[in-house]
Amino acid sequence: MKTFESCFGKLAYESMAHVFHFKCEQGMELSISNYGATITALRIPDREGKLIDIVAGFDNLKDYQNSDFYFGASIGRYANRIANGSFTIDGKTYQLEKNEKRTQLHGGEDGFHRKLWDATLFKNPDNTILKLQYLSPDQEAGFPGNLKATITFTIWDTNSFAIDYEAETDQATHVNFSNHSYFNLSGFTEDAGSHELAVDAFGYLELNSNQLPTGKMIETPGTVFDFYKLTLLSERNIPNNYPLDYCFVIDKTDSSKDPDAILYHPKTGIKLRIFTTQPGIQVYSSNFLDGSMTGHQGVSYQKHSAICLETQHFPDSPNQPEFPSTLLLPGEKYHQQTRYFFETN
Ligand code: GLA
Repeated sequence: MKTFESCFGKLAYESMAHVFHFKCEQGMELSISNYGATITALRIPDREGKLIDIVAGFDNLKDYQNSDFYFGASIGRYANRIANGSFTIDGKTYQLEKNEKRTQLHGGEDGFHRKLWDATLFKNPDNTILKLQYLSPDQEAGFPGNLKATITFTIWDTNSFAIDYEAETDQATHVNFSNHSYFNLSGFTEDAGSHELAVDAFGYLELNSNQLPTGKMIETPGTVFDFYKLTLLSERNIPNNYPLDYCFVIDKTDSSKDPDAILYHPKTGIKLRIFTTQPGIQVYSSNFLDGSMTGHQGVSYQKHSAICLETQHFPDSPNQPEFPSTLLLPGEKYHQQTRYFFETN
């Protein structure tokens, strides 16, 4: 694997953001910045061997700083929404910073996606590792506890990579990390509807009008949201009449080695298989993109032009006692992993 580093741009206090580039033997090119622990570019060969840009991203730091779309970013401390931006632990209520009218979304205005992470590169015989670390101080965005966060990208020459999310705290707190890559396996020549999607999920979480879970899971079998088998989204009239922005409940009872999600583009032949330890996956069809941002190769990112597959714990778990817990206590280790495998067929 070939690896090189380039400067991305200067932040406040003269600190410099970098991008780490990985060129794999089987063709995958992955670029990751320590600004936001962000996947800034991902290229995969199509059937003809031509490299296709399959994630939304920018060539310069400024555009990331000016964008509210979380392109490729690591999300924390808490991915997705927390009702009223608040939760209670041991009788003490914490008011988080709100960045939507009634909720905190993706860790607040200045969440992990806007932090400069310390980067260390390890080159091993079998893989290359980029370890990104950030110490989130007590009360940052309102969250309790000093939180030591580590996000590790492990990259293999076989067009695959893993993201490991780890954290430790010195006070009880809630954590839920994710990655917010916007995938388009046609290279943004066709929209989300031209993709085939499979999600190994038996339900999705019902939402209220503030896009917060009601606590109820709706079963998917036999409905338009049944993605047990690879399904062409446009055939289901998704995303136009059924724009996707739901947390699917991954079938963890399924002991098969099948992926938790698959995204495929019939024209380029590019297939992404995702495996995760997380209980949920937020499938989001870029409903808020509006063509206002232009990225790699002059592409302007339009509404419904990409699919995000954000593996995560369920939204608003701190306020939903029935959901799997996101509480992290001192002395405990938070660890979640998501693996991404690409192939072209
Ligand atoms: C997530 C949410 C969406 C939206 C995007 C960011 O996917 O579920 O509702 O907020 O992030 O634009």
